[in-house]
This record gives sequence, structure tokens and C-alpha cells, in this order.
Amino acid sequence: MSREMILVLDFGGQYNQLIARRVRENNVYCEVHTLTTDNAAKDDKTESGLGGAINFDAIKNLKPAGIILTGGPQSVYNPDSSLPLPEIFDLNVPVLGICYGAQAMTHVLGGKVQSAGVREYGKTELTVIKESALFKNVEKNSVVWMSHTDRIFDLPKNFCVTATTDNCPVAAAENPEKKLFAVQFHPEVLHTAEGKKIFSNFVDICGCSRSWHSESFIKETVEKLKNKIGGGKALCALSGGVDSSVAAVLLSRAIGKKLTCVFVDHGLLRKNEAAEVESVFKNYDLNFVKIDAGERFLSKLKNVTEPERKRKIIGEEFIRVFEDAAKKIGAVDFLIQGTIYPDVIESGLGKSAVIKSHHNVGGLPDLIDFKEIVEPLRLLFKDEVREVGRHLGLPENLVNRQPFPGPGLGIRIIGEVTPEKIKIVQDADAIYREELAAAGITKNLGQYFAALTNMRSVGVMGDDRTYDYAIALRAVMTSDFMTAEAAEIPWEVLSRAANRIVNEVKGVNRVLYDCTGKPPATIEFE
Ligand code: XMP
Repeated sequence: MSREMILVLDFGGQYNQLIARRVRENNVYCEVHTLTTDNAAKDDKTESGLGGAINFDAIKNLKPAGIILTGGPQSVYNPDSSLPLPEIFDLNVPVLGICYGAQAMTHVLGGKVQSAGVREYGKTELTVIKESALFKNVEKNSVVWMSHTDRIFDLPKNFCVTATTDNCPVAAAENPEKKLFAVQFHPEVLHTAEGKKIFSNFVDICGCSRSWHSESFIKETVEKLKNKIGGGKALCALSGGVDSSVAAVLLSRAIGKKLTCVFVDHGLLRKNEAAEVESVFKNYDLNFVKIDAGERFLSKLKNVTEPERKRKIIGEEFIRVFEDAAKKIGAVDFLIQGTIYPDVIESGLGKSAVIKSHHNVGGLPDLIDFKEIVEPLRLLFKDEVREVGRHLGLPENLVNRQPFPGPGLGIRIIGEVTPEKIKIVQDADAIYREELAAAGITKNLGQYFAALTNMRSVGVMGDDRTYDYAIALRAVMTSDFMTAEAAEIPWEVLSRAANRIVNEVKGVNRVLYDCTGKPPATIEFE
């Protein structure tokens, strides 16, 4: 059955996944693929809507309502660079080229791209100079995000300039008749003030009916899972976070008690979290198994300080613990994981650079007795997962739970992980969360937590000199976790939390607030 969709052709840029998200925000189904001239049609990753090379014939078969060419690190003049086929612009569907995508479109259609000499990176002001369907209701002057070295110099035939910036005389151009649009800036990142409007306008230009919703996703997915798993057995690594919880409930809907959920307590969870997860999932139609593995993880992490190594160790140990549990459960057919879209992308899909290795991607080793990994949420972003959870009737406190990384407090403790440090960060974090909740401001925060810096400094407690740790408090606002702004927490809330932390948590004499956004920082500390 063909359905209304927008196709994103991926040229390897860092923000490409956000493009899919911006499209889906408009209730339009979207798939991301890399372009290939290979005759083999779409590869098998297509079902997940992710990655996967696609050739021109397959594109035609998909009958996209529109095509978006993403940004990327390449230059059109590098002979190794991938370029869109000219035929794409004759499909009679609107095309939006972003950054490298815009340059590639210009180049392929006979325009000229040149190096600007220096890299332009950051916010700048865009001025719309000509009426354009893409800029409908967009402010004449607005802030946009730039990240490029090359820029459009000469336009292809029948194109006109629609917007400029100080550095880019051609910040946006179009061929209105053929509905071809080129923008040098990145409308997909939230730093671009009018970005969402631009995507909404593009969706309108494509004539999409905006009818793809969470319910369609649930119905399709439960049906697919039933067909795929049938009478087989499935095993799910349940972390108690939104992702794996929603994955588990989707599965439990599809196959009930044929699903066993294993919850590994690696000792790096937030205060009281293990008990809370247990109390929620005991009530569902699935088998729930909890494993206390804190000691195992701690001994592996002894003397380890390098962040990536910590991540790798936690990931590997998780797999070992899980494997032991799986052995006791016996052979299963499917392994269920709550992997979501940003996990997949940040672990290095296609040509995008690897930022951090996420332990929940990549699958468990061959040793485990199962046939296949199933990742029912692989296509979704965090807030989309929450929406699906809500539609599945999960309790609001679980659906609204802030994300918690697989490696847990291990990546919120800078340096070696020890039982003392775990206790410090757990207690400080619990106080901080309590104070934010009491102030009623958690709803607007994407993620908020305490981290333990590895810095000790001098303080004074009563008449005594102290030499204790500094706790860093973090709170970010984000809808996609790929970019984030540091939240402005009211001073009295921060100061109350700080007071309580230094008074109630032994080993802390200083509390800092992290004001950095992402980029350049990441949300977690390691
Ligand atoms: P960063 O620190 O990369 O975090 O800005 C972005 C989001 O991802 C979460 N995160 C992880 N989640 N396994 C996970 O399941 C991981 O290894 C991991 N590392 C980061 C982080 O909490 C934030 O929501």
C-alpha cells in the first residue's frame, strides 16, 4: 500500500536526523535513505525507515510527495562526493535542498558553488527579500543557523534569490515553477527561529494531508509484531525508562506472556529507581525478571576513568549479565530493544560522525540464543515515543519520565566510579529533582540531573576546613535531545537545592550550575 511520505536523501550531515523529525512533526510519514546508483533496489533497512541505500527506480516506486536533500560534509567539487541525480529534479515533486543539499542541487542544475574561504558556523540574521511559498508567514528578518564553507554563487536557470544574509548573498533560492528550493542555512535545528514554519510550509507545498499519527504507528507496529513474532518467544531488556517501557508494552499488547522482560539493576540507577520500576511492571501482562548486578559492574569499573572505556565496560557487562539471565530463561526467538532514532544516529549511521557509543545499539553478541533483534521504536524520537506511550495508556508519570542513559550514573560521575560517589550523586540528584518538582517547573525541562565532577575544592563547614567534591546541576530544554539549551532555573530554586545538597549530602561542599547548550556541550557529562 503506498502512503503519503516525504523522502529524505542523506548526504551525511550531523543534523540530518532532525530533518525527518521536523517532517513527522507535521504528521507526515518520512523515510531517510542514502542515494545509490546500485541497481539493487531498497535494502532491507527500509522497513524501519532508516538508513538504507536507495536507487532512482526505488525512489520512483516510493512515490514521495516531496524530497529533501540534506546537508553534509562534502564539497560538490570533490570528485568523490555524492550528488543527487539530475532526474530527481524532473520527478515533478517539490525538492528542498539544505546546505550541502542546496549546493548539490545548484551544481547539478548548472549553477555555480564556490568556497567562501572560511567556515561560517553559528547564528546569523536572514532577510527574506522575495515572496516565497517556503517563507509564507516567516518573519522578514529572523535568526538562522549556519554551518558551511562552500556557498551558492551562480544560480541555475529559472532560479531566483529569495533570502540573503551578510555572508551569503544567496542564502535561499528557488525555482517556484518546478517547486525546487535551496537553503544554505539549517532550518532543522531549533536555533533557526522560523525553521519549523519553513518545514510546515514545505509540507504544504508537497500537498501532504498531515494524517500520520501515533495511532497509525501503534496499529501498524502491533500488527507487524504479531505477524513477525507469531507464537514465538521474545525477551526484552527493560530499563524502566520511557523507551524500553513503551517497547515492552507494545510487545505485551502484541504477544502478552510470550514476552519476558529482564530488568538489570547495574547499581548505577537513580535513588529508589529499581524498586519503582519493579512496582510498575509487576502489574503488566508479561513476565518480569529483576537482576541485582551492582557488584559485578562496580568491580569491572574499578580504576577506570576514561569516559569511552567506562561506557564500553558498562555496555559489555550489561550484555554479560543479560546473557546469564537469558541462559536461565532458555532459547527465545526475538530480542526486543527500546532503541530510538537518536541512539541509532549518534552511534554512527552512514557517514555521520560518531559522537558517543550508545550501549543499547549494536545488538547483543552471537552467543545469546535468539534469532533476531526487534527494535519497534527505531524510527521515533523521544517525544514521539512519549506520545505513543500515552496512546498505549501508560501512566503519565512513566510517560513523562525524563530520559536516563543506559550507562546510568556511570557517565554522570566524572572519573572512577566508586560506591561513595554513586551515593553522593544519587542523593544530590534526588534533592535537585525534588526541588524542581516542588517548584513546579519540571514540565518544561527536557532533562535535569546532578552530576559529580571530579573536582575537589576547599570549603568551610562550621569551624572546619573541608576538601570535598563539587556537584554540577544540569537542566536542559530540548524537544529532540540532539540540540538543547541550558534552562534558566529560578535562582531561589537553585539556591535551595544547593543549600540542601551541601547540608544533606556528605562529601559535597560546592554546587555549580551548567549553563552550556548542546552543541557545543553534550547533555550528559561523559
Ligand atoms: P548526550 O549526552 O549525547 O545525550 O547529549 C543525549 C541524550 O541521550 C542520552 N544518552 C544515552 N542514552 N544510552 C542511552 O540509552 C547511552 O549510552 C546514552 N548516552 C546519552 C542522554 O541522557 C540524553 O537524553
